[in-house]
Amino acid sequence: MTHANWSYPNSIRTGAGRVAETADACRDADITNPLIVTDPGLVDLPPMTAVRAALTDADLPAAVFSDLQPNPLGRDVTAGVEVFRTGGHDGVIAVGGGSALDVGKAIAFHAGQTRPLWDFEDIDDWWTRADVDAIAPVIAIPTTAGTGSEAGRGSVITHEDTERKVTIFHPRMLPAVVIADPELTVGLPRVLTVGTGLDALSHSLEAICTPLYHPLSQGIGMEGCRLVFENLPVVAADPTDLEARTRMLSAASMGAVAFQKGLGAMHAMSHPCSVHFGTHHGMTNAVMMPYVLLANRPAIETTMARLAAYAGIGRTFDDLVEHVLALRTELDVPHTLVELGVDADAVDTIVAGTVIDLCAATNPVTVDHEYATALFAAACEGRLD
Ligand SMILES: NC(=O)c1ccc[n+]([C@@H]2O[C@H](COP(=O)([O-])OP(=O)(O)OC[C@H]3O[C@@H](n4cnc5c(N)ncnc54)[C@H](O)[C@@H]3O)[C@@H](O)[C@H]2O)c1
Ligand SMILES: [Fe+2]
Repeated sequence: MTHANWSYPNSIRTGAGRVAETADACRDADITNPLIVTDPGLVDLPPMTAVRAALTDADLPAAVFSDLQPNPLGRDVTAGVEVFRTGGHDGVIAVGGGSALDVGKAIAFHAGQTRPLWDFEDIDDWWTRADVDAIAPVIAIPTTAGTGSEAGRGSVITHEDTERKVTIFHPRMLPAVVIADPELTVGLPRVLTVGTGLDALSHSLEAICTPLYHPLSQGIGMEGCRLVFENLPVVAADPTDLEARTRMLSAASMGAVAFQKGLGAMHAMSHPCSVHFGTHHGMTNAVMMPYVLLANRPAIETTMARLAAYAGIGRTFDDLVEHVLALRTELDVPHTLVELGVDADAVDTIVAGTVIDLCAATNPVTVDHEYATALFAAACEGRLD
């Protein structure tokens, strides 16, 4: 059974049972009065029981904040910052999927700042506005294998006024210690195992298609894709396969490292869909995947052929798309956005949200009004041409 300690990009403790090291991780990060941040669905589930037990065994008391929603809002962060300040906390233990990890990271980041949260959007050098010394450390304990937020420097929060998903960014938001314990992901319902796993795939896949020169992330993205192709069908069929669960956690973290190279139109269109229709982030990316690959075809044929060969699934762009379509079918991913609950009549809203999304800027083909309109129509109607 795989057990490993890595220090790249942050300190990652990988392996079954390692949640027992939570208090030890707090010591490593100089946290003496932690605030646990999780979501309401998880607060009474086994992953949280395990975290609490680890802290109790080490006589390290912790308060819990769980007042947040999936696709979290700015006010979720504000409420958590209030609890963090009132309790005099000096660090966060973020336990959950991307929503709880992102809110936990944002609370630890923002609690010591004076400017509004939105002043730290991932634009130009806005992150330099932050008071670095006031950023509190985070222990990240993922319970889904998908977003890779535990290995990333950003936090995705929806701005309620503009109805836009905003990435808050600071290099010091990278969690100090990650505990990647596959046992914590065993209880995920299949639909979430699939949705989050395909989010991890979408990160690596979109990252290796961006035109930016970043060979470090390119290499990581290739292996990130391969790990998902190999292991997601295994965990979907047998949720208790801890070795495959471990590899999916690794793939998720690798996706986040890969997308330092940027993302693309899967995420750019998925974001407004989730904001307006509450669809699951990863599942929305999974629906978008083949339509975006086809829309980007002229720019990515060589890269996709290379990936098909590397992953052992074929030799050409078409082989790769075929594999993605078969994987979606095997994993019961809806074929269209409409089946997922998105209203085809919302075309103007979704297209407007897509073209201004940060991820659109690194898509290998320009995402303008025409591109986004055609993409949305294809994804609503299920057209693969
Ligand atoms: N920071 C980043 O780099 C980054 C990257 C991609 C996505 N995101 C964001 O992450 C969010 C999505 O995160 P997610 O896909 O992990 O889902 P999530 O965190 O929203 O969780 C979805 C549901 O799964 C439940 N859940 C989580 N772990 C469980 C477990 N082990 N057992 C049973 N139930 C469990 C939660 O209670 C919740 O109801 C979105 O807001 C998205 O925008 C962030
Ligand atoms: Fe994502």
